[in-house]
Amino acid sequence: MAGSARLCVTNQKGGVGKTTVAINLAGALNELGRDVLFVDLDPQGNATEGLGMLETYDAEPPSLLDALVDPAAVDPEEIIYRHAEMDVVPGNVDMNAAESTLVQEPDGETRLDAVLERLEADYEFVIVDCPPHLGLLTDNALYATENLVIPALAEPTSKRSLELLFDYVGALEMDHDIEIEPRALVANRIGNTRQATEMLEWFDDALPDVPLYRIRKRVALQRAFAEGKSVFAVEEETDMDEVFLTMAETLADQFSNREVPA
Ligand SMILES: Nc1ncnc2c1ncn2[C@@H]1O[C@H](COP(=O)(O)OP(=O)(O)O)[C@@H](O)[C@H]1O
Ligand SMILES: [Mg+2]
Repeated sequence: MAGSARLCVTNQKGGVGKTTVAINLAGALNELGRDVLFVDLDPQGNATEGLGMLETYDAEPPSLLDALVDPAAVDPEEIIYRHAEMDVVPGNVDMNAAESTLVQEPDGETRLDAVLERLEADYEFVIVDCPPHLGLLTDNALYATENLVIPALAEPTSKRSLELLFDYVGALEMDHDIEIEPRALVANRIGNTRQATEMLEWFDDALPDVPLYRIRKRVALQRAFAEGKSVFAVEEETDMDEVFLTMAETLADQFSNREVPA
């Protein structure tokens, strides 16, 4: 059997909804009965907080950083923690040193790939939440997953951030002779404005082959984050459940149909 389906949630712009989308996509996949491993690759550990696991942020080594430095030495049991909806490799304060450490290592941008090979056996999906900048950690996520979920605000500033992201991804593809597939574009925090409507049209035109999902501005998403859960595990209902479920179903279908390499 091939390894798990790996996806990274990436946009170098901060505050666009990467962590929100990553947690709720993982929650939706769990809702569909899929086993999910969530990796918080952002040194700030926002996803770790949003999964209610902040105590792990200061946990003693080994952390994800140690795994990236020496993937062969990883004991999965030591860096994977249990959440009610998924298993999690949490962020850790040590990850703040990840980029300056990995830059000195040979193949510093391919370490996450090696780590996931050791961790993924029990999971159908691996979801990687990325930091809000381009650099060695995001390179690791893109290289390891080759599949991209892109949250972007329904605002004109997203045009340039998507252009920059695709240029960057293109360069990484060339460097490593790989193909990185955009699997979902998530227009996020959509309000009732004409600007938002225009941006949704722009997204559709700019990336006609990538499924576009529409997440509206909803405090329910913030409240679920504060409870340390996805929207699927809290009492309060939100009409955005369905969007995340559709995204999860579409991805699950795509990956169940993919060719298994011999
Ligand atoms: N659709 C939404 N509706 C309301 N608040 C949102 C929505 N998406 C994100 N947020 C809020 O915006 C902030 C930034 O989102 P976050 O997911 O942390 O972005 P990123 O990971 O890209 O930095 C958070 O406070 C989050 O709760
Ligand atoms: Mg984030």
